[in-house]
Amino acid sequence: MEYKDLEYWSQQAGQWTQEYYSKIGQQPVLSQVKPGEIKAKLHDSPPENPESMETIFEDFKKIIPSGLTHWQHPRFFAYFNGNASPASIVAEQLANGIGANGMLWQTSPSVTELEEQMVHWFRQALDLPNTFLGLIQDTATIATFNAVLTMRERGLNWMGLTKGINQFPTLKVYASSENHSSIEKAVRLSGIGSDNLRVPDKLPNRSMDPNSLRSMILADLQNGNIPVGVILCCGGTAAGAFDQIEDTIKVAKEFDLYVHVDAAWAGSAMICPEFRYLWKGIEGADSIVINPHKWLGIQLDCSIQLLAKPEVQARTVGIQPDYLKTDGIENITNFSELTIALGRRFRSLKIWFTLRAYGLKGLRQLIRDHVTWIKELEQKFVNDPEFEVSVSTPLALFGFRFIPEGFDSNQITNALCHAINADGRVYLTHTTVDGSEIIRVTAGTYLTTRNDVLMVYDIVKEFGNRLKLTHPEH
Ligand SMILES: Cc1ncc(COP(=O)(O)O)c(C=O)c1O
Repeated sequence: MEYKDLEYWSQQAGQWTQEYYSKIGQQPVLSQVKPGEIKAKLHDSPPENPESMETIFEDFKKIIPSGLTHWQHPRFFAYFNGNASPASIVAEQLANGIGANGMLWQTSPSVTELEEQMVHWFRQALDLPNTFLGLIQDTATIATFNAVLTMRERGLNWMGLTKGINQFPTLKVYASSENHSSIEKAVRLSGIGSDNLRVPDKLPNRSMDPNSLRSMILADLQNGNIPVGVILCCGGTAAGAFDQIEDTIKVAKEFDLYVHVDAAWAGSAMICPEFRYLWKGIEGADSIVINPHKWLGIQLDCSIQLLAKPEVQARTVGIQPDYLKTDGIENITNFSELTIALGRRFRSLKIWFTLRAYGLKGLRQLIRDHVTWIKELEQKFVNDPEFEVSVSTPLALFGFRFIPEGFDSNQITNALCHAINADGRVYLTHTTVDGSEIIRVTAGTYLTTRNDVLMVYDIVKEFGNRLKLTHPEH
């Protein structure tokens, strides 16, 4: 394959993708292959001699599709979505074609300056103060890891970077139990250690209790520890929990702690003014992460990290060997100094295309539709005595349990989720909330319609009735 063949093969890829989307709704959402089935179809060793693109492309068509779980399927209601709008797909094709690395301003000024501008657009779309700057990370996990390293070093006056953290008193980080596992992962990998991730009590609304936070910090200080930061949850993964941002930030600031807010999922909804009450006080945060790749049509990977003082994170994760110095060029941003990886993909292009192709109006409508349809579906479960809605959120997520009389509801709820996913018309995930098994339903895909969402109830009923006939009773 030569560069001169790019046009032909891009057309083939485009045609295949167009067809893929035209039939996507007819496929089972969850891939039905068995473990090892795809690998068994692949050659055991790399080819010594070049193969033709015709052969490679044919193999792609024969082998790969059956092993795909269709994340863009209109009835993908599992996890949180990874949403790819058509405009974003085109922009990714261009970014792939260009193959640039935006590690420094001079390694592609367009990559850096478009990223700066897209962060600036996002800040406005979210109505955050104009002091917030930031960058595009690949994932929320990496943004959170950067934030935890930053709180660690800020707490140690940046001495941990050179001396290591062993010789200092124990560091403490505070986060709610409703947070995503990426928070614990970041605390583990930062060397702080998950035993030092402190979890304050919860209020009945699942928010961290600000008073419990204050008592914990005071006790830790009294014991000679160094509290360094608080991680707040704005839309938890299992139950969509929201910390009371304003009240908890107030407590964190009493002790000069660094505050990172994980709004990976719910942050997208903040382009709609009516949802902003959910993160009241957000302007007091030091770092905020939002994943447009979950709910704004800008495909994986695209995670925006907004920073009140980027220089604090740069001081932590930035490093400048001679070969990366850009002396003599003024007023520029070298984004690799603000994060862990040196190499940086051209992610801003898909934001630019998506925001322009649909406008904030179009994206707000997408979010509002998903919320409205999920609420409508939730009400059907509320009205049905065989179900209990045990998780209800202000956004497009709820969780229910199957509670038919005479059955173990944990067991039968779990069995129900498996049966539905094996059928393939919809894809749902289960999790544990407050010790009980629940099935989560969330909508976020670009192609999803009201009918797709409402169909969940009919399918759940169909399999629920079947299970009652076959499942062992108490
Ligand atoms: C609330 C929340 N935070 C963080 C993450 C991790 O996101 P990422 O895959 O971008 O690391 C998720 C993933 O679903 C999430 O729901």
